[in-house]
Amino acid sequence: MRMVHTFAGNAALAVEFSRTARDKQRLAVYEDRDRIARDLHDLVIQHLFAIGLGLQGVLPKVVQPEVADTLSGYVDDLDTTIRDVRRTIFSLQESEEVASGLRGRILRTVAGAATVLRFEPSLTMEGPVDSVVSEALGAQLLAVIGEALTNVARHAKATRVDIRVWVDTPARSVTVVILDDGIGPRSDDVPGQGTVNMATRARQAGGIFTLCEGELGGAEITWSAPLNLTS
Ligand SMILES: Nc1ncnc2c1ncn2[C@@H]1O[C@H](COP(=O)(O)OP(=O)(O)OP(=O)(O)O)[C@@H](O)[C@H]1O
Ligand SMILES: [Mg+2]
Repeated sequence: MRMVHTFAGNAALAVEFSRTARDKQRLAVYEDRDRIARDLHDLVIQHLFAIGLGLQGVLPKVVQPEVADTLSGYVDDLDTTIRDVRRTIFSLQESEEVASGLRGRILRTVAGAATVLRFEPSLTMEGPVDSVVSEALGAQLLAVIGEALTNVARHAKATRVDIRVWVDTPARSVTVVILDDGIGPRSDDVPGQGTVNMATRARQAGGIFTLCEGELGGAEITWSAPLNLTS
């Protein structure tokens, strides 16, 4: 029995190690992609632009028409190249994995809410949201964000919503805070299905849910759960 126990313990450790190594690897890939996209944008495109402008500057001074034609051909080529580089930057930032991961789904949920809100919410995400939040926990998180934003649109009369999602790796938890600058919750509010559902989702995931007045004067929702929810 003791041997089986020890073996199971070691196996669990090995699984945890390999998961951490995989998360680290994914993070490194994302960071690398971000850096390449940044460098392409800030260095390469600016440089190409400068060359294009320089060539356009000398064009009027060229007397031979065939040289002027060749030169303006190069300027057009540079424009095409800049467009190609921009497309590459876009695909680096919008890789398939990112688009279908939790980050992408949160982005789409928030962007979708802009239509009913009539303004663009502000969204920040910190930590390895894509790699360490399970499918099941991600689904809970998306449902909470969706309901909270619907509530802002229906009840708050707000002009601003800030959404912050972050993974606290040492604490192994994921948290979302949604703040608006609307009328705020009142003591005589009758809880509807929406808030009951958000509270139930938190309880079932072993986490917490609070709705109170926030620092923007409107409502503040905090929903947080441990990362170990798997189904
Ligand atoms: N962001 C907010 N700003 C101001 N009041 C809010 C906000 N969110 C919720 N409330 C208040 O809390 C009440 C309860 O919200 P809840 O989501 O539970 O119900 P509901 O939105 O009225 O109905 P539903 O069951 O369809 O969600 C709302 O009726 C509203 O008065
Ligand atoms: Mg509601």
